[in-house]
Amino acid sequence: MSHGPKTRIPIWILSAVYFAFAAPVPDTLREAAHHSGIFIGTAVRPAQLSEPAYAATLAREFNMLEPEDALKWEVLRPDPQSFDFHQADQLIDFATRHNMKVRGHTLVWHRQTPVWLTAGSFTPDQLSKLLEAHIKTVVGHYRGKIFAWDVANEAFDEGNRAGQLRSTIWYDQPGIGDAQQGSAYLARCFRWAHDADPQALLFYNEAEAEEINRKSDAIYAMVRDFKRQGVPIDGIGFQMHLAMQTGAAPPDFASISSNIARFTALGLQVHITEMDVSLSVDANGNASNADLQQQATIYRQIAQACLAHPGCTAIQTWGFTDKYSWIGSHSRKTRGAALPFDRNYQPKPAYEALRDALESAHPVAGR
Ligand code: XIL
Repeated sequence: MSHGPKTRIPIWILSAVYFAFAAPVPDTLREAAHHSGIFIGTAVRPAQLSEPAYAATLAREFNMLEPEDALKWEVLRPDPQSFDFHQADQLIDFATRHNMKVRGHTLVWHRQTPVWLTAGSFTPDQLSKLLEAHIKTVVGHYRGKIFAWDVANEAFDEGNRAGQLRSTIWYDQPGIGDAQQGSAYLARCFRWAHDADPQALLFYNEAEAEEINRKSDAIYAMVRDFKRQGVPIDGIGFQMHLAMQTGAAPPDFASISSNIARFTALGLQVHITEMDVSLSVDANGNASNADLQQQATIYRQIAQACLAHPGCTAIQTWGFTDKYSWIGSHSRKTRGAALPFDRNYQPKPAYEALRDALESAHPVAGR
C-alpha cells in the first residue's frame, strides 16, 4: 500500500470558510437587528439627505428613522392656521423608499414651540382646541405612515422637582383646562392621537427616567393608572442621553434593566429613543481612545439590557454621525463624539459593540 502524502486542509482555513459562508456575520446594524427582531433607528435631519455618505449610511445601517426636529411645533406651525409638512414629508419619503419604519416626535412638549404660541395670550379653552386640532391634523396626516408617536415628551420635571409634573403652557400656564388635575391633560392628548390613527402605537417619552428613580417612579404610577382607566398608551420611550465622565461610574445597568422589566410587565413596549453617549473632546472634537472603548461598553450594555426583554422593541440613536450630533452645539463644543460613526462616517468601537449585541441576542418572534 502506498502512503502518498495526504492533503490536509488546516483547521484555520476551514473555520475561515465556515464563518465566511456558513454562518454569515451581519455586515450592518440593520441586518443584525433583523436577526434579533428589533428595530434599529436614528434621528435624522432633512438638510443632510442630499449628502451621499449621509444618505447611504442611513439607508444601509438602519431600518427605522425619526425626524429630529421636523415634527416639532416650531417647524410644523408657522402660524396658528397653517401646517408645514414639507420637511417631515421628505424624511418620510426617504423612509418609504428604503423600507424603514418611522417614529413621530413629538406632539406635546414645552420646548421648540413657536413664538406666536408662547407669546400669545390664549385661554385654556382656546389652547385645548389648538392642541386637539394639532394632534388630530398631524397624526391624521401621517396615518399609516408613522407607526409610533411620542405623544408627550418630558412632561415630568427634573432636579429637586423630579417626579412632579412640569409647569408648562399645556399643563397649567394656563394649560388646556386640566390644571392641577395631574396627568389628566396628557390622557386627553393620548385619546386625541388614538382617534386620529387607531393603529399607531402611542408612547410617553422621557429624559433621565432610564434608571429606577423618582421620575421613573412617577411615570410608572401614571401609566399604570392610564392602563386602568383605558387611556390608549402602548409604550414608554427612554431617551438615553448619557454623558460619560472620564473615570466616573458608568450608568447603573442593573437598575436600567429592572426599570425596563417593570414597564414591560405592564404590557407596554419600551423603545430606547434618543441614545447617545457624549465624551469630553479636545479643540478638534476628538475623544481619547480609552473613552471611545468605554463608550463602546456602554452602548453594548444598554443594547443588551433592552434585548433581554421581549417588550423592548426598538433601539434608536440620536443621529448616527458625530458630524451632525446635537451634543456639540449644546455643550459649547466641550463634549461630543457621542454616536456610533465618526465625522467621516467610519464606524467607531461603539458601532461594533452595538452590532455585536444585536447579533448575539436571541431572536424574539413577534418582538
Ligand atoms: C434636540 C435636537 O437634536 C436639536 O437639533 C435641537 O436643536 C434641540 O432638540 N430631547 C429631545 C429631543 O426629546 O427632541 C432633543 O432634540 C434632544 C433632547
